[in-house]
Amino acid sequence: MRIVLMGPPGAGKGTQAPRLAEKINASHVSTGDMLRAEVAARTRLGLMAKKFMDAGDLVPDQVMIDMIAARMANDDDNAHPSIILDGFPRTVSQAEALDDALQATGGAIDAAIMLDVERGELVRRLAGRATCANCKTPYHLTFSPPSKDGACDNCGGELVRRPDDQPEAVRNRLRVYDEQTAPVLEYYRAKNKLTVIDGAGAPDDVFKLLLSSVRS
Ligand code: AP5
Repeated sequence: MRIVLMGPPGAGKGTQAPRLAEKINASHVSTGDMLRAEVAARTRLGLMAKKFMDAGDLVPDQVMIDMIAARMANDDDNAHPSIILDGFPRTVSQAEALDDALQATGGAIDAAIMLDVERGELVRRLAGRATCANCKTPYHLTFSPPSKDGACDNCGGELVRRPDDQPEAVRNRLRVYDEQTAPVLEYYRAKNKLTVIDGAGAPDDVFKLLLSSVRS
């Protein structure tokens, strides 16, 4: 199965995707995580992408299309029967390029699943997010805090805040989502591939909805 997991910033894609990937034996491909790794390694791509990311803007389409094409050709990913794309595609041009690339190998996206969460809740989630710098586990300092302040429960890694979770960048990310990513929902709806699920509940409840959507 090839699944696109969609939703606005803070909807819970990064919380749910690794869990779903483990459950259905899929590889989890997060373009946000890939870009943050490039930024941390101070590569040319990372240095270029950082200014877009910190402001809450999208990295240019062709950069992202090339990045995902290279990643999907990766042997480790091909070893899994399924793939979950988290954060890609984010524009209609990216969605079309993905379809073209898959079509060339006889494949297609099977489902696009959107986590639907209202705006005020998204802002609350992003305002309290902290992520393990080592294993990337997401926490929320109020809703799902670590047992020990500042340290990851899984690996003891340091919890860090993302620069794009500052209020101004969050406002811009939400605006960019409305203008550039919401049309991708219509793209998949027109192909009869879109399912919208309620992402407002507790993480375990959202996961149950997600799993039943994938299995239906
Ligand atoms: P990316 O990393 O993809 O960020 P995003 O889409 O803005 O999504 P987030 O990671 O902020 O939110 P999420 O939905 O994963 O929520 P999470 O699970 O963490 O992209 C970052 C940037 O990279 C972009 O702005 C862009 O610049 C660039 N980029 C990436 N892909 C690109 C592309 N294809 N094209 C161009 N540019 C691209 O949860 C958030 C918080 O809520 C956490 O604290 C979590 O613990 C908490 N939480 C989660 N679920 C629940 C729940 N059910 N109840 C209560 N709290 C919850």
